[in-house]
Amino acid sequence: MKDLFDKIYADKGPLGKWADKAEGYFVFPKLEGPISNRMKFQGKDVITWSINDYLGLANHPEVRKVDAEAGAKYGSAYPMGARMMSGHTDMHEQLQNELAAFVQKEAAYLLNFGYQGMVSTIDALVAKDDIIVYDVDAHACIIDGVRLHAGKRFTYRHNDMESIEKNLMRATKLAEKTGGGILLISEGVFGMRGEQGKLKEIVALKEKFNFRLFVDDAHGFGTLGKTGAGAGEEQGVQDQIDVYFATFAKSMASTGAFIAADQEIIDYLKYNLRSQMFAKSLQMQLVEGALKRLDMLRTMPELKAKLWENVNALQSGLKSRGFDIGTTQSCVTPVYLKGSIPEAMALVKDLRENHGVFCSIVVYPVIPKGLILLRLIPTASHTLQDVEETLQAFSAIREKLETGVYKRLTAAMAAEMGE
Ligand SMILES: Cc1ncc(COP(=O)(O)O)c(C=O)c1O
Repeated sequence: MKDLFDKIYADKGPLGKWADKAEGYFVFPKLEGPISNRMKFQGKDVITWSINDYLGLANHPEVRKVDAEAGAKYGSAYPMGARMMSGHTDMHEQLQNELAAFVQKEAAYLLNFGYQGMVSTIDALVAKDDIIVYDVDAHACIIDGVRLHAGKRFTYRHNDMESIEKNLMRATKLAEKTGGGILLISEGVFGMRGEQGKLKEIVALKEKFNFRLFVDDAHGFGTLGKTGAGAGEEQGVQDQIDVYFATFAKSMASTGAFIAADQEIIDYLKYNLRSQMFAKSLQMQLVEGALKRLDMLRTMPELKAKLWENVNALQSGLKSRGFDIGTTQSCVTPVYLKGSIPEAMALVKDLRENHGVFCSIVVYPVIPKGLILLRLIPTASHTLQDVEETLQAFSAIREKLETGVYKRLTAAMAAEMGE
């Protein structure tokens, strides 16, 4: 019989197997200094394009003040226990009410973490007879939530209306047999490529099919829509989203998350959401911090305006220089280049070491072989000077990529990796 750990000794997994080449630099890099447009990486100043601090709140003096004062007042323990048992406070309720109003829903409920909260909400919304229909490119937290489902699930091709309709048809037929309902899950903004979920078109299908729509709007909240209520507001269908989710990990620059829906649905989830019933309540420092951040989202539209000034400058600058930024409809800015994994590594090193530009890199198996995806996240704390320097750096690395400089530099590594 095998030892449980044998498989771990033999294979570190699809990403772990690159650890000796990548760790500390391409994965698990240590960005140092206050969170802002410019931070330090391995002792060098870099323009930081890899942090979802969309509105620049992470290090805003007013936010830091409230965080510090709340920390001093409550420490990191209060309140102790799960919400249902002993971890409930007026402040938690106030934050829920304000979040609900902000995203134009009747009620909201706090979650400790977005990931765990999404998993748990999916689990609470469906019973064995129900059917889940979801995008094949869904975030890992949606996939894991679906994994808990004891009934049927269908994936549809990414943002493809024909495939959505076909799968709703299949789901409807099945639901007629099982006696269950249908939950359709989409993201408001797909975080890797920046496309918005086709919420308007999906909502229009409610005329033909009976389903409920659950939207993970992690990247849309605070960045899209007239008031910042997200992708649903941007597309004019916020009222048709049956369950809305957003995390505090992006525009709110904190930790925690929430769901929002009709009062009756939230009342149900409050008593059935296992991740909240059996886990400690969100700590007060985070609750007070979130109230402050939400107030800034409401009262400082200039933050979103500055974010979009930077997004537009970066995206139009890249496009006018002939870069392929795919079909983004949000702040998320992907740049697609062609090259091998060793070339991608040399290129990113060049960007960081010689141009002072730090962005995330995504390669096969997350995207097709031969493609390199550099992902830039503009924020309100960036400047137009940051954008200009970055555009120049990107032109310089593309030139080297196309003339084979990185290929020559990495020939030995490529042979070793079988590229
Ligand atoms: C689309 C999406 N959903 C959920 C999450 C998870 O949120 P959290 O970081 O609060 O766990 C993330 C990442 O933060 C995300 O990008």
